[in-house]
Amino acid sequence: MPVKQIIHYFNEPKQYEKSEREFWLDPYISKQLLKAHLDQTNDGASRKLSVIDRSVDWLNEVVPTVDFKKVIDLGCGPGLYAERLAKKGYEVTAIDFSKNSIDYARSVANEQDLAIDYRCESYLSWKEQDQYDLALLIYCDYGALSSEDRKLLLKNIHASLKKGGKLVLDVFSLQKLTDFQSENSWKLYESDSFWSTGKHAVISRNKRYDHGITLEQTILLKEDDTVENFNIWHQYFDLHKIISELEGASFEITAYYADVCGNEYTEQSETICVIVEKKG
Ligand SMILES: C[S@@+](CC[C@H](N)C(=O)[O-])C[C@H]1O[C@@H](n2cnc3c(N)ncnc32)[C@H](O)[C@@H]1O
Repeated sequence: MPVKQIIHYFNEPKQYEKSEREFWLDPYISKQLLKAHLDQTNDGASRKLSVIDRSVDWLNEVVPTVDFKKVIDLGCGPGLYAERLAKKGYEVTAIDFSKNSIDYARSVANEQDLAIDYRCESYLSWKEQDQYDLALLIYCDYGALSSEDRKLLLKNIHASLKKGGKLVLDVFSLQKLTDFQSENSWKLYESDSFWSTGKHAVISRNKRYDHGITLEQTILLKEDDTVENFNIWHQYFDLHKIISELEGASFEITAYYADVCGNEYTEQSETICVIVEKKG
């Protein structure tokens, strides 16, 4: 049993220290994530379809196809937004680094005869110039990135947009952070769970760091003597912080809302949705 390795994982990770492997890319977990994206009983990986329908109707009002025809959906998951946008007449490119999600999204697009350009790649290494009228980054994925990766992604998005192009993204607010409980726990699973197959144990650390950052760490102990560690980070934002990051990346704020359905933002809102325009 690699006890030394387990103890190593008990050391408190430095802010945004990455785990050896990406949670989204683990072959077994990514299959569970696809199920979670499609599961209508929880909002774990994607919002419910009824909410996504409302979001796409709203996007079609505030960034209509007549002015924002060419769209890039970043971190598109199984394509729940991309397919609805294509049906509204947008010309959609959609990127996700999960092969499992992209394979599923492509099969749905083929079945429904939708001409969506799905690409399996990381949006952190994606680079295009003056291509799109609109970029979307939906379901608070921005906050899962370190501040360096957020800067890099905003730079990539800025370059990919045409002059006057817009970006719509959402983040979790500081109000949502009040729900976060710091705690350590462990659980023994007798059979398959979200994390692994067969009998295994899961040690979890939820920890609040300074400046609105949280860690959800999972250490997975398997019967075949392997140990896996996944660090999932999150930055929560107030309006000032999200606006200043976007302005710092040469975007101009055009509007902000409570969510991607266009509800009015208040200090009680659990998310903040911003629409920004490429400057310069
Ligand atoms: C919270 S899910 C949201 C999915 C989709 N936007 C939705 O709301 O249904 C985040 C998605 O971002 C993808 N993702 C995370 N980091 C990525 C990266 N560096 N490049 C491409 N996709 C990424 C994940 O695979 C996952 O599908």
